[in-house]
Amino acid sequence: MEHILTILTFLFGLFKLSSESVITMPSVVGMKDSKVNLECRYQSTAVWYIIQWKRLYPNMESETITTLKNDGKSSTPMPIWEGIRDDNFRTRVRTSVYVDVTSVDFTLSIHEFSCNDTGMYVCQVVGSDLLKNATNLTITAKPEAPRVIDDEVILEENDTYTLECTATAGIPVADLRWYYKIPGSSDFVRIDTESEQEVLDLDDCSQKAIQKIDVIVNPETDGIIYRCKVESDLLNEEERNNFHDDVLLKLPKKIVPQPEYRMPQTKPPDSNRANSISGYLTLSLTVLVIITALL
Ligand SMILES: *[C@@H]1O[C@H](CO)[C@@H](O)[C@H](O)[C@H]1NC(C)=O
Ligand SMILES: *[C@@H]1O[C@H](CO)[C@@H](O)[C@H](O)[C@H]1NC(C)=O
Ligand SMILES: *[C@@H]1O[C@H](CO)[C@@H](O)[C@H](O)[C@H]1NC(C)=O
Ligand SMILES: *[C@@H]1O[C@H](CO)[C@@H](O)[C@H](O)[C@H]1NC(C)=O
Repeated sequence: MEHILTILTFLFGLFKLSSESVITMPSVVGMKDSKVNLECRYQSTAVWYIIQWKRLYPNMESETITTLKNDGKSSTPMPIWEGIRDDNFRTRVRTSVYVDVTSVDFTLSIHEFSCNDTGMYVCQVVGSDLLKNATNLTITAKPEAPRVIDDEVILEENDTYTLECTATAGIPVADLRWYYKIPGSSDFVRIDTESEQEVLDLDDCSQKAIQKIDVIVNPETDGIIYRCKVESDLLNEEERNNFHDDVLLKLPKKIVPQPEYRMPQTKPPDSNRANSISGYLTLSLTVLVIITALL
């Protein structure tokens, strides 16, 4: 009997060493404003355990978000929310639990994922041992389609004008690039602008990128189209092709020289013309007199 117990204890020890683990993804990248899942798998056959998701702040302070406790009786334990300080965060988090013979999956989902939610999340288990593992949660966001302030600009030859392209830049900040197409050519040519794009904060979690370029027009480039594109690995094929805005640059319409126009009254009296007018007047008067006479 004693031997059997010893052997069982030994086997249980081996089993514990080889099988107990808490598995989390070392890092997770969430898409801004979407849902992000933090998964924690407790691999064990234990029926008594406490699993917690905690948030670890940069100052090393930790906050317990939710606790899943099983006292050995429940096959479907219910997580309990802890006193989360940030009400906004509390309204956007959910949990899901999946219990298997050899593991417990305890997933924390964050909805409308935002910059404030990024950081270290720790899954801590008290079972036969104290085990923990962490996930570094970071954020990414697609840039939006760029806008060029002007649609069409008429410029005098050799006058300099500054075109301005703006876009909500995404995370990490995407690049805005200028291209041009000369009339008659079919391809846009990329311009290697030296100027750095400006980046302005729109709010806590989004930035605006601004890329400017100085342009001139001459008779050879009259009708040139400048195109601003946003370039980011996060864009899909369709977005890559559509996220751009164009501006047309033209010289003013050439004024064809015409003889000077003068108001009739400023014209020196033309004897022929004066004659014809007086002739016309005489005729009209005569007709009028005849009509009056007839009536
Ligand atoms: C943490 O999780 C990783 C899997 O992402 C796993 O390889 C590692 O062993 C775990 N660490 C601990 C202490 O359980
Ligand atoms: C993010 O955190 C900052 C500073 O703690 C706070 O001012 C801001 O309101 C938070 N933003 C959101 C969307 O919760
Ligand atoms: C989390 O990941 C980010 C981006 O990869 C990195 O800059 C940061 O140092 C990481 N934080 C920790 C605590 O590992
Ligand atoms: C514009 O610049 C070009 C090259 O410098 C010059 O040849 C041309 O005469 C200029 N045109 C005007 C209208 O100033």
